[in-house]
Amino acid sequence: MQERKNIITAEQFTRAWLEQVFQRADELQQQYQPTLAGKIIASCFFEPSTRTRLSFEAAAYRLGAQVIGFADASTTSTTKGETLEDTIQVLSSLADVIVLRHPAVGAANRAAAIATIPVINAGDGTGQHPTQSIFDLYTIKQALGRTDHFHITFVGNLKYYRAVRSLVALLGKYPNITMTFVSAPELRIKDDMKQYLSQQGIQFTETADLAETLGVTDVVYQTRMQQEWLTPDEYSRLKDQYILTTALVDQMKPQAIILHPLPRVNEIALEVDQSPRAHYFKQAANGLPVRAALLEYVLGVWQ
Ligand code: NCD
Repeated sequence: MQERKNIITAEQFTRAWLEQVFQRADELQQQYQPTLAGKIIASCFFEPSTRTRLSFEAAAYRLGAQVIGFADASTTSTTKGETLEDTIQVLSSLADVIVLRHPAVGAANRAAAIATIPVINAGDGTGQHPTQSIFDLYTIKQALGRTDHFHITFVGNLKYYRAVRSLVALLGKYPNITMTFVSAPELRIKDDMKQYLSQQGIQFTETADLAETLGVTDVVYQTRMQQEWLTPDEYSRLKDQYILTTALVDQMKPQAIILHPLPRVNEIALEVDQSPRAHYFKQAANGLPVRAALLEYVLGVWQ
C-alpha cells in the first residue's frame, strides 16, 4: 500500500518536489481536468478564512471532486465538547482528504496522527500555513524568474504570522537567499525560526527600520497586525507602524515586488494596488492552481 501523504509543515518539502508542484500548477493554469472525479474533500475550517477555504474548494470543484465541510465551527459538535481527534476519526470514514484550519498550534499534526486519509494543514493557529508558502514562492518565481539568489524583507507582525513562519522555513532550503525582518522588538520572529535559519546557513538581519531596506530588497512581504493574537495594548500601539505608501514603494527597485497573503487592513495603502510592484492579488489567484496541484498530489494523481 502507498504511504499516506500529508502536508503539515514547510520543513517537509524538498526543492525537487516544489518544482514538480510548480510545473503541475503551470499545467493546471492552462487546463483543469476531472482528475479527482468521485473524490470527496472534507473542508474543515475551525477558524475564519476567505481565500484559503474558497481556493481549496474551487480547486476541488475544478478537478471534478465534491466538497463537504464547514466554515464555522460553531455549527459543529465541537460546541458540544467533541475533541478534534474524534471529529477527525469520523471524517476519515466519510471523505478522501481533510483540509484543516484550526486555532491550535499542532492541530494538523494531531489530526494526521489519527486520520486514515491525507491531511492538509490550512493554518494551525500561530504555527504554520505551508500551502500559502508554496504559492508565495510560485509567485516570486513568476515575477523574478528564479527561486534563489534574492533578498526578501518580511514586515510587521513576524511573531504570530504563520505564513511568514512557513515561507521562512521553505526559503531556508534555497541558496543565496538574504532575509531582513522588519518589526517592533516585541513582534520579532520567534527564536525557533532564527535557530533554523542559522542551521541552514541563511544570513538574516533584524531591524525596526523599513525605509533602510526598501532600496535593496527584491521582495517585500507585508503582514496584517492580527488583533486575534496581539494584546489590546500591542494592537493599538503597533497596528499602523508600517504602512506601505506610494512614497515608500517608489524607493523600491523597479523589478521588486510586494507580497501580502491578505486580508489587508491598513498596512498597504490602496493606491499602491496600481503599482506594477503590487503582486498580492496575483499571489492570491495563484492559490487556486497550486492548491489544485496539492490536492492531486495527496490523492495520488501524481507522485
Ligand atoms: C492569513 C492566515 O489566515 O494565516 N491569510 C491567508 O490565509 N491568506 C493571514 C492572516 O490571517 O492575516
